[in-house]
Amino acid sequence: MHVSHRPLPRLKLLTFSFLAWTSIHTAYASNVLERDIAIIGGGASGVYAALRLREMNHSFAIVEERDHFGGHVSTYTVPGTETHIDYGAQGFGGDEDSIRRFFGYYDIPLVRVKLAEVGFGKTRYVDFKTSTELPDFRPDQNISVLAREVYKYPELSLNTALPSPLPEDLALTFRDFVTKYGIESSVFSIYFQTEGLGDLLSKPTLYVFKYLNPAYLDGQLPTSPGFFVTERAFNQEVYLRAQADFGASALVSSRVVAAQRNDSRVVLVVKTPTRTQTIVARKLLVTMPPTLANMRPLDLDAREHGLFSRFEAQGWYVGLVNATGFVAGHEFINAAAAHSQFHLPQLPALYQISPTRVEGIHLVRYGSPSYMTESDVRADIVRTVDRVRRAVVPNAASLPSVELLAFSSHWPFSLRVSASDMAGGFYTRLDALQGHRSTWYTGATFSSTTASHVWNFTERLLPRVFE
Ligand SMILES: Cc1cc2nc3c(=O)[nH]c(=O)nc-3n(C[C@H](O)[C@H](O)[C@H](O)COP(=O)(O)OP(=O)(O)OC[C@H]3O[C@@H](n4cnc5c(N)ncnc54)[C@H](O)[C@@H]3O)c2cc1C
Ligand SMILES: *[C@@H]1O[C@H](CO)[C@@H](O)[C@H](O)[C@H]1NC(C)=O
Ligand SMILES: *[C@@H]1O[C@H](CO)[C@@H](O)[C@H](O)[C@H]1NC(C)=O
Ligand SMILES: *[C@@H]1O[C@H](CO)[C@@H](O)[C@H](O)[C@H]1NC(C)=O
Ligand SMILES: *[C@@H]1O[C@H](CO)[C@@H](O)[C@H](O)[C@H]1NC(C)=O
Ligand SMILES: *[C@@H]1O[C@H](CO)[C@@H](O)[C@H](O)[C@H]1NC(C)=O
Repeated sequence: MHVSHRPLPRLKLLTFSFLAWTSIHTAYASNVLERDIAIIGGGASGVYAALRLREMNHSFAIVEERDHFGGHVSTYTVPGTETHIDYGAQGFGGDEDSIRRFFGYYDIPLVRVKLAEVGFGKTRYVDFKTSTELPDFRPDQNISVLAREVYKYPELSLNTALPSPLPEDLALTFRDFVTKYGIESSVFSIYFQTEGLGDLLSKPTLYVFKYLNPAYLDGQLPTSPGFFVTERAFNQEVYLRAQADFGASALVSSRVVAAQRNDSRVVLVVKTPTRTQTIVARKLLVTMPPTLANMRPLDLDAREHGLFSRFEAQGWYVGLVNATGFVAGHEFINAAAAHSQFHLPQLPALYQISPTRVEGIHLVRYGSPSYMTESDVRADIVRTVDRVRRAVVPNAASLPSVELLAFSSHWPFSLRVSASDMAGGFYTRLDALQGHRSTWYTGATFSSTTASHVWNFTERLLPRVFE
């Protein structure tokens, strides 16, 4: 899906505001939640913010479109057991204080694992499209040249505004960056360490640097103490506990349908499964990805519209499949048989099929450069796993059919703008939007995809909100 860059026609804006007002007044009298702050999005940044704001004695309500909190975190529980499998975010590195604080609110025990120790039995490279295995393919895993450049910008993944003047490398397409530094041999490894970035080579290098940030790279060093994981392998537990704890202040399966914002207050009209709920708050904290589609109901002014309309996104989808027959411990990575384009698979496609703690259940991750319906993604995952299984497992045809046990869409993932927007000061203007019309912003788009950086950013933002 291509996001339109055209501003809404004036007439449409007027009609929209009129409708918004009508619904506000209809709903207003009967059903109002008054809060210090309204939060949109119950993922990593939204839940962290709520817990911190509660400590600061501010009242809040969270509006979340899914029926559960957790954002990019998803946990599956094998039916009839206590066995959990995390199939979204896996481990947490970076700002240790914020990681401990977040999971500490509900006493969720954490343990550290070294990446080298969670390795699988064997990695096999298979062209998922043609079902050909590449037995001699050995991608270069040495990404030290890229790492050396990343470490030059230690603050990049913690903040919204970019260094000024903008370093030339950040606005290069990653293809040009690869050529400039002669790191062709490690492109395949970099690509699979930045899953979800879609067509990596055509994107500005900034997004690779934000993803493979110093915290992420440090966590992989042999000398690193490693990443934090939840001891019960139940990353969603903290979110489910918060959701229950917040009671009527957690509005799930809900969306904002209209809003009024000015410098003194915010009024949101929220459609919940059972009613239309009005929230009147002193402040608004937006934590959902600020795509134009998500932001439109917030009654955008021209300045806001001009920024949010620049974002494009890609699709990252994860799930668990039940597929018996694969050799235990083997992981399958999608590598194009053709040498051109560094053996990168052409998206949309399944990135990989990985073993989990339960034999027969495999973690699958799928990428798309543009919007796809969930049913198309689900169908392609099942078809691809079945095809790969026929290629690598003898007598696969007689095995029980492949079943998708769990699935989660992470569209829209990793919002980006063009190199020219970047050079034109987009991120400085985005940063300057904080506080405009009583509205504040946090989340991956404003820092990086590393969860602890999102928490670190939120931690630094909150004192400014009620200044
Ligand atoms: C598959 C995957 C694996 C990852 N693994 C790791 C990892 O191992 N370690 C790590 O540090 N980071 C990981 N990340 C990144 C990390 O999880 C994110 O950086 C973090 O979740 C970002 O927090 P956020 O609050 O910005 O977004 P989210 O956690 O996604 O929260 C946003 C919330 O907003 C909700 N929402 C969206 N639109 C609307 C709307 N219109 N109305 C209401 N609510 C809405 C969403 O449902 C979601 O709950 C991973 C991400 C993905 C997708
Ligand atoms: C919040 O309120 C509690 C109880 O009234 C009080 O003990 C605490 O100091 C307050 N915290 C802040 C940050 O104001
Ligand atoms: C990785 O590459 C760098 C730069 O080419 C080189 O100096 C270093 O020795 C390599 N490391 C390993 C472990 O091969
Ligand atoms: C802000 O909007 C509210 C309605 O949502 C209105 O009552 C109030 O007067 C407005 N304040 C200013 C300063 O415009
Ligand atoms: C996976 O499939 C096998 C074979 O059909 C079945 O016995 C098992 O119960 C399934 N597991 C789950 C978690 O559905
Ligand atoms: C955020 O992270 C930086 C870099 O790790 C650290 O120096 C800083 O103390 C952190 N800030 C907060 C508020 O956690």
